[in-house]
Amino acid sequence: MDDAPRFRPTALDPILKDAEILGLAMSCEDRTGSLLATLAASKPGGRILELGTGVGAGAAWLLHGMTHDACLTSVEADPRVQAVARAHLGPDRRATFTTTDADATLTSYTGPRFDLAYVDCRPGKFHRLADLLDLLKPGGLYIVDDLLPQPTWPDDHQPRVDTFLAHLPEHPNLLYTPARWASGLLIGTRA
Ligand SMILES: C[S@@+](CC[C@H](N)C(=O)[O-])C[C@H]1O[C@@H](n2cnc3c(N)ncnc32)[C@H](O)[C@@H]1O
Repeated sequence: MDDAPRFRPTALDPILKDAEILGLAMSCEDRTGSLLATLAASKPGGRILELGTGVGAGAAWLLHGMTHDACLTSVEADPRVQAVARAHLGPDRRATFTTTDADATLTSYTGPRFDLAYVDCRPGKFHRLADLLDLLKPGGLYIVDDLLPQPTWPDDHQPRVDTFLAHLPEHPNLLYTPARWASGLLIGTRA
């Protein structure tokens, strides 16, 4: 079974090239991206949230799957990395890039709830998961990656992942499936 993606966003390779030039290696892997696009496509007209834009690889995959009337809000604390995403994806009117700490988004967001959240930084994943789930509609999807050991992890990171996985059952409004696939995924649905 060949699980390589069967499609590729046109903006992805230019984004990855810029990221390489800037020495920014933190983008989601292609299989994860393919899944993000596939799940985004399951939410026609959906409201999509990404916490941790990085250089915009994940956003490119999400936008690839989204319908023309869907919208993406992507939040990043570091303006330097998010500038790459803005340069390549900013013209896409479905995308809004917000430069702020994701904790602030979890605290202050008052807009409509989301159909899908891809959480790729600590807030909404390793802390404040309940607050993140409150931002999802019933039936909304919750996706995180990088749950299998990565070469870039600092020494203290494995316990953080272990604690995250151990405490997931404490969220009765989350039905979830961990997957030892790609970088290690968790796909959940808010009840
Ligand atoms: C793994 S990278 C994101 C990759 C991107 N989602 C993708 O799929 O290509 C994680 C990003 O989260 C950002 N970040 C870390 N902590 C954050 C926070 N508290 N709020 C917002 N962004 C944060 C980092 O600056 C980094 O760019």
